[in-house]
Amino acid sequence: MNAASRMKIDTWREMIDRRLGHWIDKTDPESLYEPMRYAVTAGGKKLRPVLLLLFAEAVDGDAESVLDAAVAVELVHDFSLVHDDIMDHDELRRGRPTVHKHWDENTAILAGDCLLVQAFRALAAVSSPHLPLALKRFAEDIIGVCEGQAFDKSFETAEIVTLEQYDTMIRLKTGCLFGLSCELGALLVDGSPQQLKAANRYGHELGFAFQIQDDLLDLVAAQEVLGKDVGSDLKEGKKTFLLLHARENATPEIRRQLDGYLRKADLSDEDIRNVIDLFKSAGTLQATQQRVEHALDQARSALELFPASPARRVLFELIQMVAERQA
Ligand code: IPE
Ligand code: IPE
Ligand code: MG
Ligand code: MG
Ligand code: MG
Repeated sequence: MNAASRMKIDTWREMIDRRLGHWIDKTDPESLYEPMRYAVTAGGKKLRPVLLLLFAEAVDGDAESVLDAAVAVELVHDFSLVHDDIMDHDELRRGRPTVHKHWDENTAILAGDCLLVQAFRALAAVSSPHLPLALKRFAEDIIGVCEGQAFDKSFETAEIVTLEQYDTMIRLKTGCLFGLSCELGALLVDGSPQQLKAANRYGHELGFAFQIQDDLLDLVAAQEVLGKDVGSDLKEGKKTFLLLHARENATPEIRRQLDGYLRKADLSDEDIRNVIDLFKSAGTLQATQQRVEHALDQARSALELFPASPARRVLFELIQMVAERQA
């Protein structure tokens, strides 16, 4: 990413951080506001709010006028992570103990609920004639995220899950919020119907690729860099792109070995390394790369509709960043 793009994103990240603080400024009761603040102040890439601001600019709008909408999508994301970590039994998030580990599950459920409601408050504060439609689309796509999370959880115990079902699941749990973020940026500053559609498609495909990359990183990343529990998906019985691809494409012998690891109660680091080797022999790592690239090509083509601008340039660069990301 070039220096000007990086500076633009960094400036926006700081603005988003400050504004997040504005929406969670209460202290009493501490058992509610402390974990909420903990969940939103632990860093994170701020990708969704940045996308929203970039699309506002890409359609020639004033990004700062929709800052609260950017904060709203980040709050939804934070809500989803707090609850996701309970559901996935994870103990590490953004390099710190998860909310339910630092406090307890009841505290995390309530903090997550309240983050979600704060998200609606933040969006409702945006001044735009398109706010009613924005709120409708916001609610619809958050429901999409919940549907995706429900599929994700039920697939853990399902005998057979196809790659097609997996696609649907990640388009909901991750694609929806990415697509929504991009679309809202364009919508709130009066983008055309074609621009809203293209913005949503860009976000959706980027989110799709982002989730497959996330499945890959769950296996191969360094925990200190990722800031999350590595190997968590295998331990939890998640039907990731990698697992499903390997199951469909491996020889019976490799599949037998793989199923052996999946049945094991406690997977060691060595077991995880062995699973990675099995994935390699099934051609899965290469297929993962190809699937990510294909989705990113779709995202790239969605940008053709927008006139050349610094924002569009950053949107192109973000595609490359997702392909190369290590965390
Ligand atoms: C994590 O999202 C959840 C997924 C959809 C994989 P991010 O990787 O964007 O999380 P942060 O905000 O940077 O921590
Ligand atoms: C995406 O899936 C989570 C949400 C949509 C909330 P993951 O469960 O893979 O996300 P991480 O890996 O815990 O961040
Ligand atoms: Mg998770
Ligand atoms: Mg999950
Ligand atoms: Mg994951």
